[in-house]
Amino acid sequence: MSNDIGIDLGTTTIMVYKKGKGIVYNEPSVIAFDKKTGEVIAFGNKAKEMLGRNPNTIEVIKPLENGVISNFSATEQLLRCILKKVVGNSLFSPNIMICVPSRVTEVEKNAVMDAAEASGGKRVYLIEEPVAAALGAGINIFQKQGHLIVDIGGGTTDIAVISEGTSIVKSSINIAGNTFDDAIKNMLFRRFKLQIGDTTAQKIKEKIGGCISIEDEETMVVSGKNSDTGFPMTILLDYIEVVDILEPLVLKIANEIKIILEKTPPEFLEDIENNGITLTGGGSLLYGLDKLIEKNTGISTHVAEGALACVAIGTGKAIENIHDINFKENATRYFDMSSMRKNYFRGNNNEQNKKKNIWSFNEIICWKRIWRN
Ligand SMILES: Nc1ncnc2c1ncn2[C@@H]1O[C@H](COP(=O)(O)OP(=O)(O)OP(=O)(O)O)[C@@H](O)[C@H]1O
Ligand SMILES: [Mg+2]
Repeated sequence: MSNDIGIDLGTTTIMVYKKGKGIVYNEPSVIAFDKKTGEVIAFGNKAKEMLGRNPNTIEVIKPLENGVISNFSATEQLLRCILKKVVGNSLFSPNIMICVPSRVTEVEKNAVMDAAEASGGKRVYLIEEPVAAALGAGINIFQKQGHLIVDIGGGTTDIAVISEGTSIVKSSINIAGNTFDDAIKNMLFRRFKLQIGDTTAQKIKEKIGGCISIEDEETMVVSGKNSDTGFPMTILLDYIEVVDILEPLVLKIANEIKIILEKTPPEFLEDIENNGITLTGGGSLLYGLDKLIEKNTGISTHVAEGALACVAIGTGKAIENIHDINFKENATRYFDMSSMRKNYFRGNNNEQNKKKNIWSFNEIICWKRIWRN
C-alpha cells in the first residue's frame, strides 16, 4: 500500500495529508530537545506547551520562519518524528509533496528537499504554496481562466494569479497572522506597559480581533505582567483598539493585491472580476479581513471553506494525482534540480545554465529531482 503524503510545512502549523485518508497530522511547528544529549523530548502540541515554560535543560525551537527553514537540523528532526508518527515503521517510504512559499530561493528549496529526503522521504516534490492552496480550495487550476488566490498564513502572505496549473504573477510578503499578534503585543506594551505572551496575543486576535468597525463592540479582560513593576496586571481591552492597529496591516496586504492586479495581463482581469478573490490560510480568518480587502480592491472576496487546511489538502491532491497532472493534464512541468545542483557545486552556474535550468519558474507548478536508477 502506498504511503504517499502531502505536507504543508507552515511557519505556525504543520499539516500532513495522507493518500486516501485526508488530514492525519495537524500540530504546531515546534520541537523540544534535551540540551545535553540533543535527544528530541517532544514535538508538535506537547512541544508548544513547553514554550516559555521550559527548564534550562530543554531547548524549545520553532524551526521555520516566514515559511522557510531557519534551523535545518531541527526541521529535519521534526519531519522525521512526524513521518514516524504518520507512516509508522512501514517498509514503504512515502513519496512526499511539500509546499514552499512562492518567493522561495534555490537554497531554501534545496533545504526543504534535503530535509524531507533525510527524514525518510522516497521521492520528494515541491509545490508553490498558492498553487496548492488553490487546488485545496477546489479551484480548477488547469483551466485557461485566471484565478486570484491569497494565502495568509502565520509568517507569509502569498498572492498569485493562477491559470493552467501555473502562477502567472505572484508575490509573497511577510505580513500575516503572526504580524497581527506582534502588533497586538506591541500596542499593549506601548499603551498600558502590559507584557503578554504569543498565546495571549493569539487569543485576543481570535476572540475580539478584527480590522473593520462594528456596532456591537466587544471587550476582553487581558492579563499579563506590568513591565515597570514586574507584577501581574489586568486591563479591559476594547475591540476598536485592536482594529486601530490591525486595519493598517490588512491594508498593506490589500495594497500588495492591487500591485499584483496591476501586473496581471488584461485577459485575466475579467476572469478575476467574475471569479472573485479566494482567501486561504489561518490569517484570512481575522474578522472583517475579507470585507476590507473587498472594499479596497473593488473585487468580491471570499474565504475558502476549511481555509486552514487548503494548502495541506492541495499538496495531498497533487501527490495523489502526480501522474495525471504530469501526463493527462500536461500541466506539471518538472525541474531538474539534480543538474542545477551539479552545476552549482561545480561552480559552473553561468548565465546559460541559469537560463536552461532555473529561471523558468513561471511555467512550473511542481519541482522534483531527477533520479537515474
Ligand atoms: N480564527 C482565527 N482568527 C484569526 N487568526 C487565526 C484564526 N485561526 C488561526 N489564525 C491564525 O492563522 C495563522 C496560522 O495560519 P496557517 O496555519 O495557515 O499558517 P502556516 O501555514 O503555519 O504559516 P505560513 O503559511 O506563513 O508558513 C496564525 O497566525 C493563527 O493565529
Ligand atoms: Mg501556510
